[in-house]
Amino acid sequence: MSLATEPSRPAAPLWKRKDLVGIQELSAEEITLLLDTARQFKQVGARDVKKVPALQGRTLVNFFVEPSTRTRTSFELAAMRLSADVINISASSSSLVKGESLKDTALVLQANNVDIVVLRHSSAGAAQFLAERLRSSIINAGDGAHEHPTQALLDLFTIRERRGHIEGLHVAIVGDILFSRVARSNIWGLLKLGAKVTLVGPSTLVPRVFERMGVAVVRRIDDVLGTVDVINLLRIQHERQRRAYFPGLGEYINLFGLTKERARCLRPDCLIMHPGPINRGVEIDSEVADDPVHSVILEQVTNGLAVRMAALYLCAAASRPLPPAPRKEP
Ligand code: CP
Repeated sequence: MSLATEPSRPAAPLWKRKDLVGIQELSAEEITLLLDTARQFKQVGARDVKKVPALQGRTLVNFFVEPSTRTRTSFELAAMRLSADVINISASSSSLVKGESLKDTALVLQANNVDIVVLRHSSAGAAQFLAERLRSSIINAGDGAHEHPTQALLDLFTIRERRGHIEGLHVAIVGDILFSRVARSNIWGLLKLGAKVTLVGPSTLVPRVFERMGVAVVRRIDDVLGTVDVINLLRIQHERQRRAYFPGLGEYINLFGLTKERARCLRPDCLIMHPGPINRGVEIDSEVADDPVHSVILEQVTNGLAVRMAALYLCAAASRPLPPAPRKEP
């Protein structure tokens, strides 16, 4: 079937949000709808012609105030595959450097009738701030240590695709949880879909207050290696840390790094994940990161494209009706 020939009708009545700010506020049904829609868009990526006209005539601005490789590229490709017009703005090339506020910058975008703003910002709450003030759809591409919803969705998508389900799985998230928006979004998403989550790290980076979210906290990576279905390694977020949270990298690797020796203790079907960028030899051994059997790190990147197509499509459809999403092919 072709999107161009389908009659126009609301794509997904369950999805009523013009914005995607975080996973915390989503229901399990909304997350599942996003993942199911992404599965349909992943099939589009396998076709000879990878483009659909779903967002034809709509304009998207990729507004990245913090650096990014994966997320920015993925959103740009996703928008192009949906036939949207796309422009990229970075902090250094915008009037933010002349002192213009985030709100005024965003109002300029709105005055140009931009339909969707994808925002990455160093301040937690930046995406919510714009979502409350602009008619445009706001998609959070990471706000400080708050949330990175599309990263969590692509992680959930990858786990579900590999394991067939999320419910009942045991997922360990290891490392710098305190400063990680990826961790927070993953925790919300995994718990809502019925997984068990264990956080692993030193008390400075994984304070026990996280237990209030409904997760377990352990201090030794060796305590989870033999029991988890998924192990997700996080980078130390030096850019958000204002003091030393552990004595040194050598000690960190000794206590929390997924070394080759530790990787041998994982269950044979355990998935090794990392949101990137990787600090090879620190949170994960370089060979372990490239392990062709267990590591799904590049699959995560591939799935990010389909997930972002789904997020853009659903939020744009909630603002104004669009043609239906492509159906799952038999
Ligand atoms: N995972 C992630 O957000 O990577 P980037 O910073 O490269 O976008």
